[in-house]
Amino acid sequence: MNRFAATLLEWYSRYGRELPWRGTRDPYRIWISEIILQQTRVEQGYDYFLRFVSRFPDLESLAAAHEDEVMKYWQGLGYYSRARNLHAAARQMQGHFPTTYEGVRALKGVGDYTAAAICSIAYGLPHAVVDGNVYRVLARYHGIETPIDSTPGRKFFAALARDMMDEAHPALYNQAIMDFGAMQCTPRQPRCGECPLADSCVALARKCVDDLPMKQHKTKTTDRYFIYIYVRTGAYTFIRKRTGSDIWRNLYELPLIECDRALGEEEIFSLPEMKNFQTGEEKSPVIRCLQRGVRHVLSHRVIHADFYELLLPDDAGRFCADTPLLENCLRVKVEELGSYAVPRLIQAFFEKYL
Ligand code: ADE
Repeated sequence: MNRFAATLLEWYSRYGRELPWRGTRDPYRIWISEIILQQTRVEQGYDYFLRFVSRFPDLESLAAAHEDEVMKYWQGLGYYSRARNLHAAARQMQGHFPTTYEGVRALKGVGDYTAAAICSIAYGLPHAVVDGNVYRVLARYHGIETPIDSTPGRKFFAALARDMMDEAHPALYNQAIMDFGAMQCTPRQPRCGECPLADSCVALARKCVDDLPMKQHKTKTTDRYFIYIYVRTGAYTFIRKRTGSDIWRNLYELPLIECDRALGEEEIFSLPEMKNFQTGEEKSPVIRCLQRGVRHVLSHRVIHADFYELLLPDDAGRFCADTPLLENCLRVKVEELGSYAVPRLIQAFFEKYL
């Protein structure tokens, strides 16, 4: 075994984390944990994992569940396609988890990295994982400046990861390098002073630890402007399930007007979507602003959200019929809002105003 792998294994035996999906070889639980950890840090994913596997302990229970309930268990984790894919894959598997790399790789939502993690940890197959942690540790240890988001970079690091892996202990090695990247060789302020690889780390010798790994592209973000209308009529309000290929598909939210820039209050009141609500009659609705300019940052977008309350008379059927604002909305009791899966932005609003 090479010294790099031996050092990582020794480090892992001392400092590796005890996590609820370790100490099992159940591919189902390892699959769930790896999907959660695709875009979520261990600290945040921990409780989600426990709640998820306690409600859906096996393929059968997950496949039998309604998708809305699966989404509810994912609420707040972000990247919701993960939950939709888990559910779809559970139904496809029909009770049998695949036992080969190719079979696992073919599951919805499973890429090279996740397939390597599942197969090495559950089945001991010698596939090296390459995630953000692995890129960082290998780029620094070898002093590699090839950008990790280029085709040559991806190829190079995949081959290097295979070379460096301890083929006799793929499960331990993969988890060791991921923990090492998460705890020791961290993106910012890595603990080089107490690193067992310090004497052979190229980046440390060249004083370029903070510059590695390199990327050629900065992530571009776009701004989006959301105006949410919290409609009240007596004990009821309205929510809508998001559809299409946009963010938050299959989650619920308040009636939404999306604009291409931030609007002032007067402009909002005169939007066509608000038309049916400007009656000027007695008993006419009351609109007031509850929150403006709430910033919600996603991986490629910044959402700027305003929240308005629209108070309608209790018998507001006549306002609601064929208004574009409430098209395809569900009329639900305010006290039952908690049972719908909503994005974190909406959850935070509910926590403040309900
Ligand atoms: N990140 C993704 N998968 C992981 C695992 N199995 N252990 C530690 N960190 C991880």
